[in-house]
Amino acid sequence: MPDSSPAKALVVGATGVIGRYIVERLLQEPTWEVVGLSRRALPARAGYTHLAVDLLDDAATAQALAQVSGITHVFFAGFAPAGGVAADYARNIEVNLKLLQSAVRHAQQTQSGLRRVVLVTGTKYYGVHLGPYKTPAKEDDPRHMPPNYYYAQIDWLLDFHQTCQRQGSTWDWVELRPQTLCGFAPGTAMSIIPVLAVYAALSKAQGLPLRFPGKAKAWRSIYQVTSSAHFAQAAWWAATTPSCANQAFNITNGDYFRWCNVWPRLAEVFDMPWAEPQTIALTQHMPTLRPLWERLVQTHRLTPVAWDDLVAWPFGDYVFGATWDVMSSTVKARQYGFDAVVDSEDMLVELLQQYRQNKIVP
Ligand SMILES: NC(=O)c1ccc[n+]([C@@H]2O[C@H](COP(=O)([O-])OP(=O)(O)OC[C@H]3O[C@@H](n4cnc5c(N)ncnc54)[C@H](OP(=O)(O)O)[C@@H]3O)[C@@H](O)[C@H]2O)c1
Repeated sequence: MPDSSPAKALVVGATGVIGRYIVERLLQEPTWEVVGLSRRALPARAGYTHLAVDLLDDAATAQALAQVSGITHVFFAGFAPAGGVAADYARNIEVNLKLLQSAVRHAQQTQSGLRRVVLVTGTKYYGVHLGPYKTPAKEDDPRHMPPNYYYAQIDWLLDFHQTCQRQGSTWDWVELRPQTLCGFAPGTAMSIIPVLAVYAALSKAQGLPLRFPGKAKAWRSIYQVTSSAHFAQAAWWAATTPSCANQAFNITNGDYFRWCNVWPRLAEVFDMPWAEPQTIALTQHMPTLRPLWERLVQTHRLTPVAWDDLVAWPFGDYVFGATWDVMSSTVKARQYGFDAVVDSEDMLVELLQQYRQNKIVP
C-alpha cells in the first residue's frame, strides 16, 4: 500500500522529458509539495517552487538546497549528454555521476527528513543500445561490459546509501528503468514523438507517403516504449510503496509492438498514405529540409519551436535502428503492486494528435 503521509519532493531535472511529468503527477497529490531543480527555471505556482541551479556548481547547489527544508523524496531525472554525444557512454560517466552526487549529497546533508531517493536510469542498463540482448530483460540480469554511466550512478548511490545507513540515516532508494519515453513535451528534442511528427509533416509536404525511415529489420522487430504519464505514476508508486525500498524495476507500458503493425495508424493521424520502409539516415537527410520546415511554420501558423529544440534526429536513427527485439519484463513491478498498463499503439496515436492539435506540426 502506498504511504499517504504528507511529503515534499525534490525533482531533479524538472524541465526534462521525464522530470516535468513527475512534477505534474506529484502536484496532483493534495498533501505533497514539489521543489523542481534544473538550470532553467519553471514558474512557481501553488505547491511548486523551483531552484534554478547548476548541479555542476557544488557551492551553488549546497546553498540552494540549504534554503529549502522538509524534503522527503528526491526524484533524480537529470541528464547531461557529454558534448552532445548521448551514446558515448564513456564520456557521459563523469558529468552524470557528478549531477547525481551533487543532488543526493546535498539533499542528504540539508534534509533531515529524507525518506527515499528515486533514481531514473533506463534499459541501456541491459545494453539495449549495443545489439541483441537477452529478452525479456529482467532486473537481476547480469550487466553488459562497461562503460555505462548508469552503473557508475547506481554503484555510487548504493555505496553512499550504505555509508549513510552506518551513520544512522534511514532513507532508502529505488531505481527505475524505462524505455523510450513518450510524452507531450514540445521543445524537448530527444523524444520519438517529435521525430515521428516532424518526419511525417515533412514527408506529407513533399507529397511523399509515410515511409518507415529505419532499418528493414527494425520495421519487424519487437519494440517497447514508456508513456511519460505512466512513468510518472510509476515513480510516485515507487516513491511511496514501502516494499519497493532498495529495489530496481523495469517500467514500460507493459506491452510490445512492431513498427510495421502500428505504421498504418500513424499515417492515418496525418491523413496520408504509408508505404514500405526506405532506410535513410535521418541525421543526414532531415537537416537539409530545415527551409521547408520554416515555410511550414509560416504557412500553417505553427507554434514556433527552435529547430534544434524541435527534434533530435540522431535519436530517431537510434530508435529506428534497433534491428533486434527490445523487451523488458514488467513482471517484477506487477508483483510489487504496480499493475497499470498502457496500449502503446493508442498512446502513439494520441500523442501525435496532440502535436497536431497544439499546432506544433501541421
Ligand atoms: N528520454 C528517454 O526516452 C529516456 C529513456 C530511458 C531512460 N532515460 C533516462 O532518464 C534520465 C533523464 O533523461 P531525460 O530524457 O528526462 O533527460 P532530459 O529531457 O534531457 O532532461 C534532463 C534534465 O536535467 C537537467 N540538467 C541537465 N544538466 C543539468 C545541470 N548541470 N544542473 C541541473 N540540471 C541539469 C535539465 O534541465 P536544464 O537543462 O534546465 O538544466 C533537464 O531538466 C537519463 O538518465 C536518461 O538516460 C531517458
